[in-house]
Amino acid sequence: MNGQRILKRFQPDGKETIIRYATADDLEGILEVGGKEQQINLSVRVSWVMQLRTAKIVLVAEVEGKIRGVIIVSSIPAKYHVCYAPWWVWTIGVTQEFRRFGIGTALIQTALYQAKRTLEAKLIGLRVKQFHPVISLYKKCGFKKVRIREIDRERFSELKEAVIMVKNL
Ligand SMILES: CC(C)(COP(=O)(O)OP(=O)(O)OC[C@H]1O[C@@H](n2cnc3c(N)ncnc32)[C@H](O)[C@@H]1OP(=O)(O)O)[C@@H](O)C(=O)NCCC(=O)NCCS
Repeated sequence: MNGQRILKRFQPDGKETIIRYATADDLEGILEVGGKEQQINLSVRVSWVMQLRTAKIVLVAEVEGKIRGVIIVSSIPAKYHVCYAPWWVWTIGVTQEFRRFGIGTALIQTALYQAKRTLEAKLIGLRVKQFHPVISLYKKCGFKKVRIREIDRERFSELKEAVIMVKNL
């Protein structure tokens, strides 16, 4: 990871906000993004740490010096590819009080730019629950829904209720 280099700076609602690569010191701040809403327990913490360990790009949004958003992009081994996307937006989250200010959009746009530039990613995918309101955000960022192949549905039970979206970079 690239230390504290600022990738984007903006002022949603007049509040100084930056997007940068996460560092190891950010773990507690990242875990707090889910906060009360997700009631972070041990298993959630473990799964986040595992995601962070295998992630290729972890960006945080800092609002006035505190981490309020995170996005994680990972690669996927070929045997787990769904709809051929080798890169995946694994998680995105913004602390509840800071939503609807464009921070989620900025995290996605910056992560996609970094994935293209540093990972030479050409196709990136994500999985989202059917009818989830975030689908409109993904569409605005250029993701398109794709049909899940029957073979993938059979292999991955979690895809039954899911929408897969991909974007060419
Ligand atoms: C999804 C999430 C990261 C969006 O962050 P954000 O900073 O609010 O995103 P932005 O302000 O850039 O964009 C908001 C847009 O997302 C869409 N959106 C996302 N979640 C929404 C919700 N719960 N209700 C309504 N619209 C929503 C809308 O299109 C909205 O656009 P609008 O404000 O112009 O109506 C944030 O809502 C979140 O952390 N949600 C909980 C975690 C989650 O659901 N993650 C996605 C799992 S796949």
